Amino acid sequence: MSVQLNKSQFRRIAKIAHDLWGLSLSDRKIELVANRLSRYLMRSRFNTVEEVLDNIERNPSREDLLAFFDVLSTNTTKFFRDTAHFAYVEREFFTALARGTLTVPDRRVRIWSAACSTGCEPCSLAMLALETIPDLERWDFRILATDLSIRALEQARSGIFPAQQVEELSKQRQKRFFERIDPQRYRIRQEVMDLISYRRLNLMEPWPFRGPFQVIFCCNVMIYFDEQTREKLVNRFYDILPSGGILAIGSAETLSGLETPFVSVQANMYRK
Ligand SMILES: C[S@@+](CC[C@H](N)C(=O)[O-])C[C@H]1O[C@@H](n2cnc3c(N)ncnc32)[C@H](O)[C@@H]1O
Repeated sequence: MSVQLNKSQFRRIAKIAHDLWGLSLSDRKIELVANRLSRYLMRSRFNTVEEVLDNIERNPSREDLLAFFDVLSTNTTKFFRDTAHFAYVEREFFTALARGTLTVPDRRVRIWSAACSTGCEPCSLAMLALETIPDLERWDFRILATDLSIRALEQARSGIFPAQQVEELSKQRQKRFFERIDPQRYRIRQEVMDLISYRRLNLMEPWPFRGPFQVIFCCNVMIYFDEQTREKLVNRFYDILPSGGILAIGSAETLSGLETPFVSVQANMYRK
């Protein structure tokens, strides 16, 4: 069954997406949303788009809301997605910590991957730390990885990745950090998973922590937010970074035009 969305239905969907999750859906997305809704209708208890929307607008359960978020959101990701980001963190943060040219109180390092999807981003940061800081086990080192999507988080927590994603990594990284389960899948090693805590979090809502995080990655999610939402969000990041803290955003994203005190250090990388 293929769904046809009329303009009024699409406007209702866009309002829900914006009010609840900060997502800004342009009219160009109407076909994409219609296709995804068709698939959702096949597996949900609802028979029509009207039924789905009436439920979401009136009295949705938490599960219905999150399932609807999954209909609208995009989880595309890969390991070391923006290589320049990781090179910067390796050089300016991990290597500096390892050499002692940068110190942090109590050797406490906190990194936040703020829209981690299925886990490639926090795992890339963890692998990089293991490669760069030889005595990592003697540091209080944690990566907080959050996302709103239950489906993405379930996959992230499993530590299992499609072969295609893993085989884009160097042979050396594949060997050190992964074991093959079957021709389609690899499992990431426990030493990587042990550095990461996965939590569900809506970036639009109050955060149940105050930081500080020395590094925040918020990549390829602000592209879906409007300017006002982005400005508010990056200034909340600013508040939980210490002086000199690093913010990485996606390669198609920018802070230019936003009112924020962040200083640009390279393309799509900022410091407090
Ligand atoms: C395209 S993925 C980016 C993944 C990763 N950061 C990367 O760059 O490869 C965008 C992620 O943002 C999440 N997301 C969208 N809106 C969100 C919100 N309001 N709160 C938390 N996560 C959100 C989606 O669930 C999705 O997993």
